[in-house]
Amino acid sequence: MPKLADRLVTLPEYVLARVPQRKRELLAQGVDVIDLGPGDADLMPPPAALARLAEAAAIPSMNRYAFGVGLMDFREAVTTWMAKRFGLQFDPLTEIVPLIGSKEGISHLAMAYVDPGQTTIVPEPGYNSYAGGTRLAGGVPYRYALTPRTNFLVDLDDVPADVLRRARIVYLNYPNNPTGAIAPRDYLERTVRRCRELDLLLVYDNAYSELAFDGYVPPSIFEIDGARDVAIEFHSMSKTYNMTGWRCGWAVAKPEIAAVLAKVKTFVDTGGFMAVQAAAVAAIESYDDFVPRNVAVFKERRDAAVRAFRDAGFTCETPRATMYLWIPLPEGLPSAQFAERLMEDEGVIVLPGSGFGEGGEGFFRISFITSPERLAEAARRAGRVLQSLTAGVA
Ligand SMILES: Cc1ncc(COP(=O)(O)O)c(C=O)c1O
Repeated sequence: MPKLADRLVTLPEYVLARVPQRKRELLAQGVDVIDLGPGDADLMPPPAALARLAEAAAIPSMNRYAFGVGLMDFREAVTTWMAKRFGLQFDPLTEIVPLIGSKEGISHLAMAYVDPGQTTIVPEPGYNSYAGGTRLAGGVPYRYALTPRTNFLVDLDDVPADVLRRARIVYLNYPNNPTGAIAPRDYLERTVRRCRELDLLLVYDNAYSELAFDGYVPPSIFEIDGARDVAIEFHSMSKTYNMTGWRCGWAVAKPEIAAVLAKVKTFVDTGGFMAVQAAAVAAIESYDDFVPRNVAVFKERRDAAVRAFRDAGFTCETPRATMYLWIPLPEGLPSAQFAERLMEDEGVIVLPGSGFGEGGEGFFRISFITSPERLAEAARRAGRVLQSLTAGVA
């Protein structure tokens, strides 16, 4: 057998890697599976995006390579939206990088900033492309455990000084997957200041910026003074517009930072399908009409999920953003065991906290991606498993 590269061997297993196969088997056995695993709702994209995709796909030039520049209309729609949404001006050509989903960009960015053996600061639990991108670049993630003690915020003052000195990147994601945490503005100000002092690239993953409730409006990192010097922000069409499968997002940063990500990408892809970029323009243009109604659907699901899981014997906070509940388990109950029993005995798929790294142990994640009725049914089944696993434990 050809020898594997060390970087491959060090990659953690993807938390969702084994689930689809097992789900297929359970469905084949006739099990009524409720899948609350992925952050992937059963909702449709904006109708205008569907129509634009069909139109655009029929235009010959749209079917050619997009290359790095892609569709100028997409860049302009993004900068127009960012001006309206955050009050921030960006140059469409030099400060936007079109992506084939934000995961792609987040993962590839480390190639530009991390040399073999160098360190990045990775929140754990956290989205897998932070540690994954670092590992693929030959770097070593410093795993920072997100806990209730810091309200699931990365406090750079907790990181040992020698790690901070060596680190090239800190990854932040608020609103946060999987904890649902949000970042107060004074925290962001402090963190930007520290990143500037340390010359640390702040990768701000804003995939959930539009999925917020109860009047909370997530900021862009660039609303914080000085962030343009040290930050790059990632946005996604996936969650805001229910377009996960389309693979479309963007990065935004000052030209010097945007250009290095664009450069890496010239060696790994040749741009996303331009008809998808055209459809993304239509989606972005439908923001005012589409997004508030879509968020209302998620809010109804959030409320139903919180209610049902509490009724079933769990304690959980009400998240002000994202599509996730991060639910604590009784002390000593391994999250992998709970998730396994829930899938095998009751056909409900949730993600064990340990699948997000050791820092996630003690919790499990559900995505509120299905109807309130199905969420309630999933919670009832989860409650039964909780009871059976804790029966006899004082
Ligand atoms: C925190 C976070 N960042 C980035 C992504 C990637 O989104 P996409 O690649 O679909 O744009 C996800 C998807 O689940 C996510 O949860």
